[in-house]
Order: sequence, then C-alpha cells, then structure tokens
Amino acid sequence: MKVAVMGTGHVGLVSCVTFASIGHEVVGTDVDVAKIELLERGIPPFFEPGLEEAMKREKASGRLSFTTVAAEALRDAEVVFICVGTPARANGDANLLAMEQSAGQIARHAPDGAVVVEKSTVPAGTADRVQTTLQREGGERRFHVASNPEFLREGAAMRDSLEPDRIVIGIESPRSLEVLKRLYAPLLEAGVHLIVTDIRTAELAKHASNAFLSLKISFANALARVCERAGADVTAVADVMGSDPRIGRAFLNAGIGYGGYCFPKDVAALRRLSERLGYPFPLLREVERLNDEAVEAAATKVEEALWNMEGKRIALLGLAFKPGTDDVRFSPALTLARRLLASGAHVVACDPHAASNAKDELPELELARDAYEAASGAHAIVIATDWEEFRNLDLARLRGIMTYPMVVDGRNLLDSVEMAEAGFWYYPTGRPPVVPAPTTSGPASAEAVEPAVPIGQRSTTP
Ligand code: UDX
Repeated sequence: MKVAVMGTGHVGLVSCVTFASIGHEVVGTDVDVAKIELLERGIPPFFEPGLEEAMKREKASGRLSFTTVAAEALRDAEVVFICVGTPARANGDANLLAMEQSAGQIARHAPDGAVVVEKSTVPAGTADRVQTTLQREGGERRFHVASNPEFLREGAAMRDSLEPDRIVIGIESPRSLEVLKRLYAPLLEAGVHLIVTDIRTAELAKHASNAFLSLKISFANALARVCERAGADVTAVADVMGSDPRIGRAFLNAGIGYGGYCFPKDVAALRRLSERLGYPFPLLREVERLNDEAVEAAATKVEEALWNMEGKRIALLGLAFKPGTDDVRFSPALTLARRLLASGAHVVACDPHAASNAKDELPELELARDAYEAASGAHAIVIATDWEEFRNLDLARLRGIMTYPMVVDGRNLLDSVEMAEAGFWYYPTGRPPVVPAPTTSGPASAEAVEPAVPIGQRSTTP
C-alpha cells in the first residue's frame, strides 16, 4: 500500500519504519527541513534503539523515503497518517494547530477516497474537526477519517510498534476498517489483538491509558510518603499489590515522578477535555500535584541530609526522563536539577545519552563525563534516572572520592544492604534510610565514617 506519514517525530518516524518493514511503500513528510535532511542521510534525529539500522534497511529497499514537500508525499497515498505534535498550551489544552494544518494539506493534495488516520494523541472529538477541515478545503473529494492511537514507549518504540499489545482502530466507515486491516495484515496474522471502536472512543482510550498509568505512578509516590513515615518499604508494598493480577506490578515504581513528552501533556489534556465537557475530574489534578510533590520530596531529602546547600556539591546521576532515551522533555531529573540549583547547591550532572540535550535546556548545568567525575568531591549523589549504568557503580571507589559518602536514590536503583556494607548514608524513596550510628555532628567525611548500622537496627529517620 502507498502510505503517507505527516510528522516525523518519535511516533511518525517509528511508524514510517514499521509500515515499510511490513511491506508498504512509505513517504514521510515534515515541515522541519533540517530533520528531513538528516533522515535523507539515514540519521534519526533522536536516539531510539534499533531505529537507525531498520531505517537504513528500509531506505535501501526503496520502500521508505522522506520529503519536505507534503504534496509529494500525499499525491498517491491510499492512507495518510497524521503524526504531528499536539503539545500542551499554557492552560493544559492540547494545541491542535498542526492537526488543522495537516488536514488542510491532505484536503488539497491527497487523492479522493484516501483514508486519513489520526495517530497523534488528541482529545475526543478532534476527528470531527479534521473531517470539517477536509470537507471545507477538499472541494469535490471525500475522505474517510479514522483514529489509530499509538502506544509506543520511547526506548522500546520499535518493539512496541512491531509487536504491540493491541491495535486500536476507531472508524466511521467500512472503507477505513478495510484499509487499516489490510495495512496491519502482517501483524494481525501474527496474532496481535485488534480492537475496533468508534472514533471518539479510540481517541479517549489513548488519553485514558496514559492518564491511568500516570495515576498508578502518582499512587506509588504518595504511598512512598506514607511508607517513609511508617517505616515501611514501598517497593515491597508494590510487589505485594502487583502480585494481584487485578492490580499488576507495572508502573508502581515510586521515584521522582513521571515525565517525557506524553504523560504530563496527556494528563493535562484529559483534565481540560473533562472540564470543557462539564466534568472537572479533580483526580487528574491530584495526579499532577503528586507528580510535582515527588520531585519536591527528593529535593527536601537532600536538604535535610546536607543541612545548608550553599557550597555543597551534588552529583546528579541521570537527566533523561527515563533510561534508554536521550529525551529530556519534561524530565523530572531536570526539574530536580533546577530545584537544587535554586537552593544554592553546586550541581554537576551526567547522563549516558541525554547530557547535551539537557545542556541545551539548562545551560547553567555543569556536566561531567561519568558518575565518577560528577561524584568527585561531592557531598551527595542524587540518582534521578534509573540507567543500568548507575546500578553497578563501584561503591568503594565512589566512597573514596566523595566528600560525604551520601546517596539520595530518587529511583530506588541501589540495594540498601550493599549501601550499608559500603559505608554509605543512603536515602532511598519510600524505603527506610541507611544511616551510620548517630553522631552529634552530622555526616562524617569519607575517611571518618563508621561502618553502617546493620539493616535490622537502622534508624528510620534521617
Ligand atoms: C508513555 C506510554 O507508556 C506509551 O504507551 C505512550 O504511547 C507514550 O507515553 P513514554 O513517554 O515513552 O511512554 O514513557 P514510559 O516508559 O511510559 O515512562 C513515563 C515516565 O514514567 C518516565 O518518566 C518513567 O521514569 C516514569 N515511571 C514509569 C515511573 O516513575 N514509575 C514507573 O513505575 C513507571
């Protein structure tokens, strides 16, 4: 099939490569000339495991190409995917200007009868607006609008796209269903679950899924606050809860909160949609508040552990909003960096992939090559992103180079027993801290620290 994809961001580019991989002829188009130039040279504009190789392979096969000229991409397209950004406006509403502009382009350049599919995450009812624009600007031509939300995660996008849990198709005409079933035939034949709904249900299901996952994370973060006060372990509580299949263990990891391009804007967009429809849905406001509180809780922990922040060096490990990506958009790690800088600390950060993107967003951030350079002379390490690299740090080496052997673990990445054995002051999230026997003068220097108190006897207050 001839497929046009409008927008070559994370969802658009991965979709281009996926559709080409399952045998279609795909043209991706974007208004960003620099991005298309990179793609024409076979270079993805962001880091995503497996994407570059697959993109090069599909380009070489002749099934995948890119253009800045939308008319070229649309000319013979049987199906057009709209994958443009729908960022949040200041009040939380989704900004749908790019959707309208894409619909206008399709109306002017796509052939009569083309199926126009929203893949971007949009508020329920957006397809009606797309349809209206197509009608107003399409002259005599008629189009079939459909919704096909994408559930791919950054860092696992190729796998999520080629082996999805489900394919959701929202349709209004049999023609849309026939075309989309034909498009996805290789995945459907491989047994992927297909759910067919009306368009508004498909649109809403995407927002509901992301908001519910955010809710699970915020629930875990609120539980972490309770566990810290009760002397319980939030990870073990989550294990117990998660072993009930009605609850599920995924997305119950307490930490410094969710970030990225999707969750924050999608929670806000669903909240705004509900408000506009006359149902305020205050639970979503609380999900957002708890997410802000998670960063604040980590910052407070650092302040309580270090007393005054001026003159204190903090090694911030991780800047990406999650491991496996170089994306720092709405990263809680960056929010934490800003918060620590504002408190007067000297923050030195590192990240295996996201350091330069972080520097673009926060130029005053000092960067180190790795965790050891960041930790050299530091009064505390703060773990902000759960990269595997940080799980296996040489604790003896760190203890030797730090001013205070102290770790605030915002992602519960490290093991309390190992931290105790290595002589660290260790403050995880929603789990009992590990602190050496009480002294009268706060944390000792690396040379002077006593072996940590065995786990069973540790104090539960910093
Ligand atoms: C998300 C959805 O998972 C995906 O289905 C959708 O299509 C796009 O949005 P993504 O933004 O790539 O994907 O990130 P995800 O892996 O879901 O993580 C989001 C955030 O939640 C990250 O900041 C992560 O660190 C945080 N998180 C996740 C937690 O804090 N705790 C958890 O238990 C899980």
